Formats: sequence, structure tokens, C-alpha cells
Amino acid sequence: MTKDRDDLHPQTLAVHAGAEPDQETGAVTPPIHPSTTFLRGEDGAPVGDYIYTRERNPTRDRLEAALVALQTGAGAVATFASGSAAASAMLRSVEPGKRIVVPDDMYHGIRHLILGQARHWSVTLDFVDLSNLANLEAALAQGDVAMVWVETPSNPRLKITDVAGAVTLAHAAGARLAVDATWTPPGVSDPFALGADLVMHSTTKYLAGHSDVLGGAVLARSEDDPAFAFVRNLQHLEGAVPSPFDAWLTLRGLRTLALRVREASSNAAQLASFLENHPAVVSVDYPGLSSHPGHEVAKRQMTSFGAMLSVRVQGGFEAANRIASATRLFRRATSLGGVESLIEHRAPVEGDGTQTPGDLLRVSVGIEHVDDLIQDFRRALES
Ligand SMILES: Cc1ncc(COP(=O)(O)O)c(C=O)c1O
Repeated sequence: MTKDRDDLHPQTLAVHAGAEPDQETGAVTPPIHPSTTFLRGEDGAPVGDYIYTRERNPTRDRLEAALVALQTGAGAVATFASGSAAASAMLRSVEPGKRIVVPDDMYHGIRHLILGQARHWSVTLDFVDLSNLANLEAALAQGDVAMVWVETPSNPRLKITDVAGAVTLAHAAGARLAVDATWTPPGVSDPFALGADLVMHSTTKYLAGHSDVLGGAVLARSEDDPAFAFVRNLQHLEGAVPSPFDAWLTLRGLRTLALRVREASSNAAQLASFLENHPAVVSVDYPGLSSHPGHEVAKRQMTSFGAMLSVRVQGGFEAANRIASATRLFRRATSLGGVESLIEHRAPVEGDGTQTPGDLLRVSVGIEHVDDLIQDFRRALES
């Protein structure tokens, strides 16, 4: 970037960050550097900036530069092969013997990750409903909390946490606050402005945006943050990094981030209103609806309300299962954040121990024309 990023709008940054023309060839589109290793000179010193791709790679560097530019307040980023690998590195930065407060409603994969690993990491977990900060206060009062993990809106119930309020409580108790911002990519929310210490993304979702590449990122305000240094070190030593091809694909995807997210969020808002008024629907979890308990907080801390929603339908588990198979445009598949709309009957996917109601459908709204999406859903509900 030749200009200070503060001068530019997010939409412009998404196009230009990490996209300087190739110095060797003048290529406008960044090259992919698949090389795992880089030349040393006669004195044994590297001839350029690179040594070995597990540590650093020019294509991954471009992705990291773009992510730092896009996430306001970020000064450092480490990219990973998946969002889960990024989350794992962050959670392991917590010292043994400490506590981590996690949301009672959160992405089930990370829930399973921490439930399975907490014993080995020698940390204690407190699952808390973070949509009410009194619960956080009570958890922090137990002492020894090192990290508060926030997902807002949460997956799949779209509970909203007041991030700024949670930061104040966490910091007063000596804990750090980390946000899994996968559902709120840059342009939708700004966790660092709200005081968060660390931000994580599954770049698999909105950032890459086309359901064709896995990836994850941990962002911090500065390289000097000890938790970030821990994460960076793990990234180097363990090598759970995106391949140069994956980094390139993610970089290409994020060029259209602003356009995709704007369209998908607008579609989601309209679909949510339609669903809320349909007689076959019990309730809709979408923070853009004034009926949502977290609506006012969401309005304060989100630029748009995002493109994820959950809907509970009349007729229970069987009806939800039937509707998930009856849509045509909404593909029945796991994941989210791609250009195509997806629907998932969530409870059976989350499996044993899930608290997700059996009548709940989780929906990732894509960028198709909203009239087509509404018509498709209407037909499925009325089939
Ligand atoms: C909120 C959230 N965080 C993290 C992840 C994990 O990301 P990945 O599949 O890239 O490991 C997901 C995946 O669905 C998610 O929804």
C-alpha cells in the first residue's frame, strides 16, 4: 500500500491491500510462490527476505498484509490452515492453571476442540451466557480467568454480546478478551475499536468467500503482544499454515469482500423479515430484527447485521429436516460465508450433547437475488 490505510475506505482496501504489482514482471495480479525454500548466498546468508515457507512465504505475506490493512486497529496477523487451527493457537496462549470463559452458544467445532483439549492444556473452562454481562461478572469473580472468548452473533443462536462492556469487565479482572469474528468480517464489526485484545477469523467463510479454500487468521494490535508472539511462534514451529495456493485464493476472494457482504447482509435482513411473518415459523434469530433481544447492542457495535440467521419452524425436528431438503437454491450443506446460500438442520449436525433445538435451521444467506431466495424458502415452508 502506498497510501496510509486510514485514507481509504474498506472497499478500496480490499481491492488494493497486498496487491502491489510484482516487482520482477510488473504483473498486476500477485504471483504465487510455491517454493518451500529460498537461496542462500556464498556467506550462507539468505539472498532475499525468505528462508523457508513454514516460517514465511511471499504469497502468505501478501495475504497477511491485506488482512492487517482490512482489520481496523490490527498491527499483526498470523495466518493458519484453518480457523480451527487459528483458534487452537490462541487458546493455547493461556497459561496452564488459568480459566477461560467461553460462550454457552458457540461454533460446535471449537467447543469440541476446547472440551477435548482443556485437560491437556491444564486450563479450566466456564461456559457462560455472554448475552447477559452479569453472567460474565459472576464467572470473573471466581478469579484466575486469563481469557474471555466471545462469539457475537453466536453460532447458531445469534446471541449478541456487548463487546465493549465485556472488555471493561475482563480487563478489570486482568483477563484478555478474544473475539471469534468469523461471522462479522471487516466492514461488519470492528472488535479492536470495541477494545478486544485478539481477533480470530475462519477465513474459510466471508474473507475467502467462495467455499473453496480453508484458512484462519489471528490478529493482534501489535507483534509485541505476548499472546500474539506465542501464536506466531506456534505458527512457525508447527507449520499449520495455509499453502501459497490457498493464501493466493483467499487473497483473490477478499477483493470482493465489501460487495459480497453488503449484498448478503441486505438479503438476510429481507429474508429474516419475511420469515418472521410466515405462519410456519416459530421464531427467527437475527440481530437486525427489532424483536431480537440483542438488537440495540448489535445496532451499536455492528455496521450491518450480517448474513447469518437461524429459524425455528412449526412441526419440530421432522419439519425442519423436510424443509432443509425442500429448498432448491439454499443448498443443504455445512459452512457459511460463500456466495451461495446454504441451509443446515443444525442439531443432528452438532450431534450428541447439542443444546440447539431440533426445529432449528441455520441459514447462510448468499448473494443471489433476494426475491429468488424468498420464493425458494416460501416454497419449502409450504411444501
Ligand atoms: C464461528 C466459527 N468459528 C470458527 C470456525 C472454524 O473454521 P474452520 O472450518 O476454518 O476451521 C467456524 C466454522 O464454521 C465458525 O463458524
